[in-house]
Amino acid sequence: MMPPKPSSRPEKVTLWRYLKLFRQDILSAQPAKLYRAWMAEFRTPFFRSYMVNDPNLIHRVLKERPDDFPKSDRIGAGLRPLLGDSVFLTNGETWKRQRRIIDPSFEGGRLRETFPAMWAAGEAAVVRMKGFADGQPHDIEPETSHAAADVIFRTLFSIPIEDEIATRVFDEFRSYQRTQLILNLAAFIPGPRWMPRFFKSETKQTAKAIRALITDLTQQRLQAIKTGDAPDDLATKIMTTADPQTGETFTVEEMVDQVAIFFLAGHETSASALAWTLYLLALYPEWQDALAQEADTLTAEFSSVSKLRKTRDVFREALRLYPPVPMMVRETTCPENFRHRDVPKGAQVVLSPWHLHRHERLWDNPDGFDPTRWATENGISV
Ligand code: HEM
Repeated sequence: MMPPKPSSRPEKVTLWRYLKLFRQDILSAQPAKLYRAWMAEFRTPFFRSYMVNDPNLIHRVLKERPDDFPKSDRIGAGLRPLLGDSVFLTNGETWKRQRRIIDPSFEGGRLRETFPAMWAAGEAAVVRMKGFADGQPHDIEPETSHAAADVIFRTLFSIPIEDEIATRVFDEFRSYQRTQLILNLAAFIPGPRWMPRFFKSETKQTAKAIRALITDLTQQRLQAIKTGDAPDDLATKIMTTADPQTGETFTVEEMVDQVAIFFLAGHETSASALAWTLYLLALYPEWQDALAQEADTLTAEFSSVSKLRKTRDVFREALRLYPPVPMMVRETTCPENFRHRDVPKGAQVVLSPWHLHRHERLWDNPDGFDPTRWATENGISV
Protein backbone atom coordinates (compact mmCIF):
# COMPACT_ATOMS: atom_id res chain seq x y z
CA MET A 1 0.00 0.00 0.00
CA MET A 2 1.25 3.49 -0.90
CA PRO A 3 0.84 6.37 1.55
CA PRO A 4 -1.53 9.05 0.22
CA LYS A 5 -0.24 11.72 -2.17
CA PRO A 6 -2.21 14.65 -3.64
CA SER A 7 -2.90 14.30 -7.36
CA SER A 8 -1.14 16.74 -9.70
CA ARG A 9 -2.89 19.23 -11.97
CA PRO A 10 -2.87 19.00 -15.81
CA GLU A 11 0.32 20.35 -17.46
CA LYS A 12 -1.31 23.42 -19.01
CA VAL A 13 -3.74 25.69 -17.17
CA THR A 14 -4.50 29.40 -17.31
CA LEU A 15 -3.10 31.71 -14.63
CA TRP A 16 -6.62 32.23 -13.33
CA ARG A 17 -7.21 28.48 -13.00
CA TYR A 18 -3.81 28.06 -11.33
CA LEU A 19 -4.65 30.67 -8.70
CA LYS A 20 -8.00 29.01 -8.02
CA LEU A 21 -6.34 25.61 -7.60
CA PHE A 22 -3.65 27.16 -5.41
CA ARG A 23 -6.24 28.58 -3.07
CA GLN A 24 -7.80 25.14 -2.66
CA ASP A 25 -4.58 23.19 -2.16
CA ILE A 26 -1.08 24.38 -3.01
CA LEU A 27 0.26 20.87 -3.77
CA SER A 28 -2.49 19.71 -6.12
CA ALA A 29 -2.05 23.02 -7.98
CA GLN A 30 1.39 21.89 -9.23
CA PRO A 31 2.07 19.75 -12.35
CA ALA A 32 3.61 16.26 -12.07
CA LYS A 33 6.74 17.34 -14.00
CA LEU A 34 8.03 19.13 -10.88
CA TYR A 35 8.86 15.71 -9.42
CA ARG A 36 11.33 15.19 -12.30
CA ALA A 37 12.59 18.69 -13.16
CA TRP A 38 15.77 20.25 -11.72
CA MET A 39 14.25 23.67 -12.18
CA ALA A 40 10.96 25.16 -13.38
CA GLU A 41 10.31 28.73 -14.43
CA PHE A 42 6.92 30.27 -13.78
CA ARG A 43 6.53 33.36 -15.94
CA THR A 44 3.63 35.79 -16.03
CA PRO A 45 3.43 39.39 -17.27
CA PHE A 46 3.73 40.57 -13.63
CA PHE A 47 6.33 38.40 -11.96
CA ARG A 48 8.65 35.45 -12.31
CA SER A 49 9.28 32.63 -9.94
CA TYR A 50 11.69 29.70 -10.14
CA MET A 51 11.21 26.42 -8.37
CA VAL A 52 14.67 25.06 -7.72
CA ASN A 53 15.17 21.31 -7.20
CA ASP A 54 18.84 21.11 -8.19
CA PRO A 55 20.80 20.37 -4.96
CA ASN A 56 23.76 22.48 -6.16
CA LEU A 57 21.53 25.50 -6.71
CA ILE A 58 19.86 25.04 -3.33
CA HIS A 59 23.31 24.95 -1.78
CA ARG A 60 24.16 28.22 -3.50
CA VAL A 61 20.98 29.94 -2.28
CA LEU A 62 20.98 28.69 1.32
CA LYS A 63 24.63 28.03 2.13
CA GLU A 64 27.07 29.76 -0.22
CA ARG A 65 25.42 33.16 -0.72
CA PRO A 66 22.46 33.46 1.69
CA ASP A 67 22.89 37.25 1.95
CA ASP A 68 22.16 37.55 -1.79
CA PHE A 69 18.93 35.53 -1.44
CA PRO A 70 16.98 37.01 1.49
CA LYS A 71 13.67 35.57 2.63
CA SER A 72 10.91 36.86 0.43
CA ASP A 73 9.09 39.84 1.82
CA ARG A 74 5.82 38.46 0.52
CA ILE A 75 5.88 35.54 2.93
CA GLY A 76 6.54 37.86 5.82
CA ALA A 77 3.72 40.19 4.88
CA GLY A 78 1.01 37.87 6.17
CA LEU A 79 2.78 37.08 9.41
CA ARG A 80 4.08 40.46 10.48
CA PRO A 81 1.12 41.43 12.72
CA LEU A 82 1.91 38.42 14.90
CA LEU A 83 5.65 37.96 14.51
CA GLY A 84 6.91 41.54 14.27
CA ASP A 85 10.67 41.43 13.68
CA SER A 86 11.18 37.83 14.68
CA VAL A 87 14.13 35.84 13.43
CA PHE A 88 11.88 34.01 10.97
CA LEU A 89 11.22 37.22 9.03
CA THR A 90 14.41 39.25 9.39
CA ASN A 91 17.39 39.22 7.03
CA GLY A 92 20.97 40.47 6.89
CA GLU A 93 22.54 42.18 9.91
CA THR A 94 19.36 42.19 12.06
CA TRP A 95 18.96 38.45 11.57
CA LYS A 96 22.65 37.80 12.35
CA ARG A 97 22.44 39.84 15.56
CA GLN A 98 19.29 38.00 16.69
CA ARG A 99 20.84 34.61 15.97
CA ARG A 100 23.97 35.53 17.99
CA ILE A 101 21.68 35.98 21.01
CA ILE A 102 19.39 32.98 20.41
CA ASP A 103 21.81 30.29 19.22
CA PRO A 104 23.80 29.67 22.43
CA SER A 105 20.61 28.52 24.22
CA PHE A 106 20.00 25.78 21.64
CA GLU A 107 23.58 24.63 21.16
CA GLY A 108 24.88 21.06 21.60
CA GLY A 109 24.58 19.80 25.15
CA ARG A 110 21.82 22.23 26.04
CA LEU A 111 19.19 19.90 24.62
CA ARG A 112 20.06 17.58 27.48
CA GLU A 113 19.05 20.30 29.95
CA THR A 114 15.56 20.68 28.47
CA PHE A 115 15.02 16.93 28.20
CA PRO A 116 13.25 16.50 31.59
CA ALA A 117 10.65 19.11 30.52
CA MET A 118 10.08 17.24 27.24
CA TRP A 119 9.81 13.93 29.06
CA ALA A 120 7.14 15.36 31.40
CA ALA A 121 5.14 16.61 28.38
CA GLY A 122 5.45 13.15 26.78
CA GLU A 123 4.17 11.42 29.90
CA ALA A 124 1.19 13.79 30.07
CA ALA A 125 0.38 13.08 26.40
CA VAL A 126 0.49 9.31 27.00
CA VAL A 127 -2.03 9.70 29.85
CA ARG A 128 -4.35 11.85 27.68
CA MET A 129 -4.27 9.29 24.85
CA LYS A 130 -4.74 6.16 26.96
CA GLY A 131 -8.39 5.79 25.88
CA PHE A 132 -7.39 5.78 22.19
CA ALA A 133 -6.61 2.06 22.12
CA ASP A 134 -10.30 1.17 21.62
CA GLY A 135 -10.18 0.06 17.97
CA GLN A 136 -12.01 3.21 16.82
CA PRO A 137 -10.59 5.90 14.49
CA HIS A 138 -9.37 9.03 16.31
CA ASP A 139 -8.41 12.46 15.04
CA ILE A 140 -4.76 12.56 16.02
CA GLU A 141 -3.82 16.11 15.03
CA PRO A 142 -5.49 17.90 17.99
CA GLU A 143 -3.61 15.52 20.31
CA THR A 144 -0.20 16.07 18.74
CA SER A 145 -0.87 19.81 18.62
CA HIS A 146 -1.63 19.75 22.34
CA ALA A 147 1.52 17.75 23.06
CA ALA A 148 3.76 20.02 20.95
CA ALA A 149 2.38 23.14 22.62
CA ASP A 150 2.99 21.55 26.00
CA VAL A 151 6.65 20.89 25.12
CA ILE A 152 7.12 24.51 24.04
CA PHE A 153 5.64 25.99 27.22
CA ARG A 154 7.50 23.61 29.51
CA THR A 155 10.88 24.08 27.84
CA LEU A 156 10.54 27.82 27.27
CA PHE A 157 8.72 29.07 30.39
CA SER A 158 8.63 26.03 32.73
CA ILE A 159 4.83 25.97 32.69
CA PRO A 160 2.56 23.16 31.46
CA ILE A 161 -0.11 23.77 28.84
CA GLU A 162 -2.73 23.65 31.62
CA ASP A 163 -1.37 26.96 32.96
CA GLU A 164 -4.01 29.64 32.40
CA ILE A 165 -1.97 31.95 30.16
CA ALA A 166 -0.50 28.99 28.24
CA THR A 167 -3.99 27.63 27.52
CA ARG A 168 -5.15 31.01 26.29
CA VAL A 169 -2.10 31.45 24.03
CA PHE A 170 -2.66 27.94 22.61
CA ASP A 171 -6.37 28.59 21.90
CA GLU A 172 -5.65 31.95 20.28
CA PHE A 173 -2.92 30.44 18.12
CA ARG A 174 -5.28 27.81 16.79
CA SER A 175 -7.76 30.46 15.73
CA TYR A 176 -4.92 32.53 14.22
CA GLN A 177 -3.88 29.57 12.09
CA ARG A 178 -7.40 29.23 10.77
CA THR A 179 -7.25 32.77 9.36
CA GLN A 180 -3.61 32.98 8.29
CA LEU A 181 -1.42 30.26 6.77
CA ILE A 182 2.37 30.39 6.92
CA LEU A 183 2.63 30.02 3.16
CA ASN A 184 0.08 32.37 1.70
CA LEU A 185 -0.98 33.06 -1.81
CA ALA A 186 0.54 36.54 -1.66
CA ALA A 187 4.00 34.99 -1.75
CA PHE A 188 3.37 33.66 -5.23
CA ILE A 189 1.60 36.66 -6.72
CA PRO A 190 3.76 39.52 -5.59
CA GLY A 191 2.41 42.98 -6.14
CA PRO A 192 4.54 46.11 -6.10
CA ARG A 193 6.13 46.92 -2.74
CA TRP A 194 4.02 50.03 -2.26
CA MET A 195 0.82 48.00 -2.48
CA PRO A 196 -0.91 47.98 0.93
CA ARG A 197 -1.35 44.58 2.54
CA PHE A 198 -4.78 43.95 3.97
CA PHE A 199 -5.33 41.65 6.89
CA LYS A 200 -8.67 40.31 7.99
CA SER A 201 -9.64 42.24 11.10
CA GLU A 202 -10.06 38.90 12.90
CA THR A 203 -6.41 38.05 12.13
CA LYS A 204 -5.23 41.40 13.48
CA GLN A 205 -7.31 41.06 16.63
CA THR A 206 -6.05 37.55 17.33
CA ALA A 207 -2.44 38.60 16.75
CA LYS A 208 -2.89 41.45 19.22
CA ALA A 209 -4.40 39.13 21.85
CA ILE A 210 -1.56 36.60 21.47
CA ARG A 211 1.10 39.31 21.73
CA ALA A 212 -0.53 40.75 24.87
CA LEU A 213 -0.44 37.32 26.56
CA ILE A 214 3.17 36.67 25.55
CA THR A 215 4.14 40.17 26.74
CA ASP A 216 2.71 39.29 30.18
CA LEU A 217 4.78 36.10 30.35
CA THR A 218 7.93 37.91 29.18
CA GLN A 219 7.53 40.80 31.60
CA GLN A 220 6.94 38.44 34.52
CA ARG A 221 10.09 36.60 33.56
CA LEU A 222 12.15 39.78 33.32
CA GLN A 223 11.02 40.62 36.84
CA ALA A 224 11.96 37.14 38.11
CA ILE A 225 15.40 37.44 36.48
CA LYS A 226 15.91 40.75 38.29
CA THR A 227 14.96 39.29 41.66
CA GLY A 228 16.99 36.12 41.05
CA ASP A 229 13.93 33.79 41.14
CA ALA A 230 13.85 32.78 37.47
CA PRO A 231 13.91 29.07 36.56
CA ASP A 232 16.82 27.99 34.38
CA ASP A 233 14.78 27.39 31.20
CA LEU A 234 15.07 28.55 27.59
CA ALA A 235 13.37 31.92 28.20
CA THR A 236 15.80 32.80 31.01
CA LYS A 237 18.75 31.59 28.97
CA ILE A 238 17.80 33.67 25.92
CA MET A 239 16.86 36.77 27.92
CA THR A 240 20.13 36.77 29.83
CA THR A 241 22.35 36.18 26.79
CA ALA A 242 24.09 39.28 25.50
CA ASP A 243 25.16 39.77 21.91
CA PRO A 244 28.94 39.16 22.06
CA GLN A 245 29.50 42.01 19.59
CA THR A 246 27.39 44.75 21.19
CA GLY A 247 26.89 43.46 24.75
CA GLU A 248 23.14 44.10 24.45
CA THR A 249 20.35 41.70 25.41
CA PHE A 250 16.87 41.53 23.84
CA THR A 251 14.34 44.19 24.84
CA VAL A 252 10.92 42.88 26.00
CA GLU A 253 9.42 43.76 22.60
CA GLU A 254 12.14 41.82 20.74
CA MET A 255 11.76 38.84 23.04
CA VAL A 256 7.98 38.82 22.42
CA ASP A 257 8.69 38.61 18.65
CA GLN A 258 10.99 35.63 19.22
CA VAL A 259 8.63 33.81 21.60
CA ALA A 260 5.83 34.23 19.05
CA ILE A 261 7.92 32.53 16.33
CA PHE A 262 9.20 29.78 18.64
CA PHE A 263 5.60 29.03 19.38
CA LEU A 264 4.30 29.25 15.81
CA ALA A 265 7.28 27.54 14.11
CA GLY A 266 7.89 25.00 16.84
CA HIS A 267 4.36 23.96 17.56
CA GLU A 268 2.64 23.59 14.20
CA THR A 269 5.64 21.83 12.63
CA SER A 270 6.26 19.34 15.43
CA ALA A 271 2.52 18.62 15.70
CA SER A 272 2.32 17.89 11.97
CA ALA A 273 5.43 15.67 12.01
CA LEU A 274 4.14 13.69 14.97
CA ALA A 275 0.63 13.36 13.53
CA TRP A 276 1.94 12.00 10.20
CA THR A 277 4.28 9.62 12.01
CA LEU A 278 1.38 8.17 14.00
CA TYR A 279 -0.79 8.05 10.87
CA LEU A 280 1.91 6.06 9.03
CA LEU A 281 2.28 3.69 11.97
CA ALA A 282 -1.46 3.02 11.79
CA LEU A 283 -1.08 2.22 8.06
CA TYR A 284 1.89 -0.10 8.64
CA PRO A 285 1.17 -2.19 11.77
CA GLU A 286 4.39 -4.20 11.42
CA TRP A 287 6.31 -0.97 11.98
CA GLN A 288 4.02 -0.04 14.84
CA ASP A 289 4.89 -3.34 16.55
CA ALA A 290 8.62 -2.85 15.92
CA LEU A 291 8.53 0.66 17.42
CA ALA A 292 6.50 -0.46 20.44
CA GLN A 293 9.17 -3.09 21.10
CA GLU A 294 11.93 -0.52 20.77
CA ALA A 295 10.07 1.88 23.09
CA ASP A 296 10.22 -0.76 25.85
CA THR A 297 13.95 0.01 26.12
CA LEU A 298 13.31 3.73 26.71
CA THR A 299 14.13 5.26 30.08
CA ALA A 300 13.89 8.86 31.34
CA GLU A 301 17.60 9.29 30.45
CA PHE A 302 18.41 11.60 27.54
CA SER A 303 20.99 9.11 26.24
CA SER A 304 18.37 6.37 25.78
CA VAL A 305 16.65 8.37 23.01
CA SER A 306 19.61 7.99 20.65
CA LYS A 307 19.22 4.19 20.85
CA LEU A 308 15.78 4.34 19.19
CA ARG A 309 17.15 3.69 15.68
CA LYS A 310 13.97 2.32 14.09
CA THR A 311 11.89 5.13 15.59
CA ARG A 312 14.35 7.65 14.15
CA ASP A 313 14.10 6.09 10.69
CA VAL A 314 10.28 6.06 10.75
CA PHE A 315 10.30 9.69 11.87
CA ARG A 316 12.70 10.58 9.05
CA GLU A 317 10.44 8.82 6.58
CA ALA A 318 7.41 10.77 7.88
CA LEU A 319 9.36 14.04 7.53
CA ARG A 320 10.41 13.05 4.01
CA LEU A 321 6.91 12.11 2.82
CA TYR A 322 5.04 14.90 4.63
CA PRO A 323 7.46 17.78 5.32
CA PRO A 324 5.76 20.21 7.75
CA VAL A 325 7.24 23.16 5.84
CA PRO A 326 6.53 22.10 2.26
CA MET A 327 7.90 25.21 0.56
CA MET A 328 10.08 28.25 1.31
CA VAL A 329 10.56 31.38 -0.75
CA ARG A 330 13.66 33.53 -1.27
CA GLU A 331 14.22 36.53 -3.50
CA THR A 332 17.04 37.48 -5.89
CA THR A 333 18.74 40.82 -5.13
CA CYS A 334 20.73 40.98 -8.37
CA PRO A 335 20.56 39.30 -11.79
CA GLU A 336 21.51 35.61 -11.51
CA ASN A 337 22.20 32.70 -13.79
CA PHE A 338 20.47 29.46 -12.82
CA ARG A 339 21.23 26.41 -14.93
CA HIS A 340 22.23 28.60 -17.91
CA ARG A 341 19.10 30.68 -17.64
CA ASP A 342 19.08 34.41 -16.82
CA VAL A 343 17.08 35.18 -13.72
CA PRO A 344 16.18 38.83 -13.14
CA LYS A 345 16.59 40.76 -9.90
CA GLY A 346 13.49 40.55 -7.68
CA ALA A 347 12.49 37.04 -8.87
CA GLN A 348 10.97 34.63 -6.36
CA VAL A 349 13.06 31.51 -5.72
CA VAL A 350 10.86 28.67 -4.47
CA LEU A 351 12.59 25.89 -2.53
CA SER A 352 10.29 22.94 -2.18
CA PRO A 353 11.04 20.24 0.38
CA TRP A 354 7.79 18.63 -0.81
CA HIS A 355 9.12 18.05 -4.35
CA LEU A 356 12.72 17.44 -3.32
CA HIS A 357 11.68 14.71 -0.90
CA ARG A 358 9.78 12.87 -3.63
CA HIS A 359 12.07 13.72 -6.53
CA GLU A 360 12.23 10.83 -8.99
CA ARG A 361 15.90 11.46 -9.84
CA LEU A 362 17.01 11.60 -6.20
CA TRP A 363 15.12 8.75 -4.55
CA ASP A 364 14.47 5.05 -5.15
CA ASN A 365 10.73 4.40 -4.72
CA PRO A 366 10.12 8.11 -3.96
CA ASP A 367 6.46 7.84 -2.92
CA GLY A 368 6.76 4.60 -0.95
CA PHE A 369 7.04 4.26 2.83
CA ASP A 370 10.34 2.50 3.49
CA PRO A 371 12.17 3.44 6.71
CA THR A 372 14.96 0.97 5.85
CA ARG A 373 16.10 3.34 3.05
CA TRP A 374 17.91 5.45 5.68
CA ALA A 375 20.46 2.69 6.16
CA THR A 376 21.12 2.34 2.39
CA GLU A 377 23.37 4.33 0.09
CA ASN A 378 20.32 6.17 -1.32
CA GLY A 379 19.21 7.39 2.10
CA ILE A 380 22.69 8.33 3.27
CA SER A 381 23.85 10.16 0.17
CA VAL A 382 20.86 12.43 -0.48
C1 HEM B 1 9.62 18.83 12.89
C2 HEM B 1 9.76 20.05 13.37
C3 HEM B 1 10.25 21.25 12.57
C4 HEM B 1 10.39 21.43 11.23
C5 HEM B 1 10.11 20.44 10.10
C6 HEM B 1 10.91 22.77 11.03
C7 HEM B 1 11.22 23.32 9.80
C8 HEM B 1 11.77 24.56 9.60
C9 HEM B 1 12.23 25.08 8.34
C10 HEM B 1 12.17 24.34 6.99
C11 HEM B 1 12.70 26.33 8.55
C12 HEM B 1 13.34 27.25 7.51
C13 HEM B 1 12.36 28.23 6.96
C14 HEM B 1 13.03 29.21 6.03
O1 HEM B 1 14.24 29.45 6.16
O2 HEM B 1 12.35 29.77 5.15
C15 HEM B 1 12.54 26.62 9.96
C16 HEM B 1 12.90 27.79 10.57
C17 HEM B 1 12.71 28.05 11.92
N1 HEM B 1 12.23 27.17 12.87
FE1 HEM B 1 11.69 25.28 12.58
N2 HEM B 1 11.04 23.37 12.25
C18 HEM B 1 10.66 22.48 13.23
C19 HEM B 1 10.65 22.70 14.59
C20 HEM B 1 10.96 23.89 15.20
C21 HEM B 1 10.93 24.10 16.63
C22 HEM B 1 10.57 23.05 17.70
C23 HEM B 1 11.22 25.40 16.84
C24 HEM B 1 11.23 26.09 18.18
C25 HEM B 1 12.20 26.65 18.70
C26 HEM B 1 11.47 26.00 15.52
C27 HEM B 1 11.82 27.32 15.30
C28 HEM B 1 12.21 27.83 14.09
C29 HEM B 1 12.71 29.19 13.90
C30 HEM B 1 12.89 30.25 15.01
C31 HEM B 1 13.02 29.33 12.55
C32 HEM B 1 13.59 30.57 11.85
C33 HEM B 1 15.10 30.42 11.87
C34 HEM B 1 15.81 31.55 11.16
O3 HEM B 1 15.37 31.99 10.09
O4 HEM B 1 16.85 31.98 11.67
N3 HEM B 1 11.31 25.05 14.56
N4 HEM B 1 11.99 25.51 10.57
